[in-house]
Amino acid sequence: MHLLETLRADQADITAIRRDIHAHPELAFEEHRTAGIVAERLRTLGIETHTGIGKTGVVGVLRAGTGSRAIGLRADMDALPIQEKNDFTHHSKIPGRMHACGHDGHTAMLLGAAAALARSPDFDGTVYFVFQPAEEGEGGAPEMIADGLFERFPMDAIFGLHNWPGLPVGHIAVHRGPVMACADRFDIEIKGHGAHAAMPHQGIDPVLAGATLVQALQSVVSRTKDPLDAAVLSITQFHAGDAYNVIPDSARIGGTVRAFRPETESLVEDSMQRVCAGVGAAFGANVRFDYRRGYPPTINTVPEAEFCARVAAEVCGEGHVQIDPKPSMGAEDFAYFLQEKPGCYIWLGNGPGEGGCTLHNPHYDFNDEAIPYGVAYWVTLVQRWLNP
Ligand code: NI
Repeated sequence: MHLLETLRADQADITAIRRDIHAHPELAFEEHRTAGIVAERLRTLGIETHTGIGKTGVVGVLRAGTGSRAIGLRADMDALPIQEKNDFTHHSKIPGRMHACGHDGHTAMLLGAAAALARSPDFDGTVYFVFQPAEEGEGGAPEMIADGLFERFPMDAIFGLHNWPGLPVGHIAVHRGPVMACADRFDIEIKGHGAHAAMPHQGIDPVLAGATLVQALQSVVSRTKDPLDAAVLSITQFHAGDAYNVIPDSARIGGTVRAFRPETESLVEDSMQRVCAGVGAAFGANVRFDYRRGYPPTINTVPEAEFCARVAAEVCGEGHVQIDPKPSMGAEDFAYFLQEKPGCYIWLGNGPGEGGCTLHNPHYDFNDEAIPYGVAYWVTLVQRWLNP
């Protein structure tokens, strides 16, 4: 029987786990209940289980044969601070908490793959099932790395997946290179000199300097980098003053930068620094520029991405695999794993993003019909990577 058909027999069981996790969402580094379910399931399957890695992370180890090769498969476990607006029975039971990114599905599918591989260990080597905490902004991946993930569980490569609304169920998208952007933040403080609004010559106006800065910073993306190399610079905050007749002493600007290449990220940061200093000098204001790197760009390694594309074609059929569609300006902390190891992060079709079923929307839900495809992808990836 075809693997996909065999795995359909497990779908109800995996769906039940998925919906239970969905109903009990936990935020970053608070995934105690979820990690408990993961550890218990792994142990029940006879899989060596390690807990407390990167705080609430869990790693399962499954060996077969005598091979020395090893592969890491990663799922994220955390939810978001969103009030769910769905009313199906498995809706969130915790106010203000919701699995609005499908990490419930990722966790359940990796448990499904662990069960299938434990049942039929037809591979030669070691599989590490990596259940990470805190993907949503808090950096669970670097926390696991700092806790010795790759020393304790030495793997040749690591692989991840994310459900993707808008991509049909049974389809997979693979990027040979950047798949998600970096997510950096900046704060700019413009220190002028407060004055009476009717006597501007007695002060240094931080509002005018700030307004100029907002415009001048738009030249960074449009004028300093290759137009074919994508980046976004969005200014999302501008705070200054609170009276009609006072030129305030200072103003604050904040925003985010997204790019797909570390070189571009550095170019944008350096250019912003220059523009801030120049505008500050032009107005006689003191401009303090604070740029903070967030998640780096998620960049798949090409040989592993091509390997994954072949596995995806085997699972979904050649015509259901997209190679190199447009990457996303969203960010993903799987990027940190890819800074340490070769690997690939793919998108798994979640069906049409209708009725608010888009990532981080209060009407989102993971599509349980995608479960057999996700599990078959993991199992086939292991069988081909650790080919006996
Ligand atoms: Ni996510």
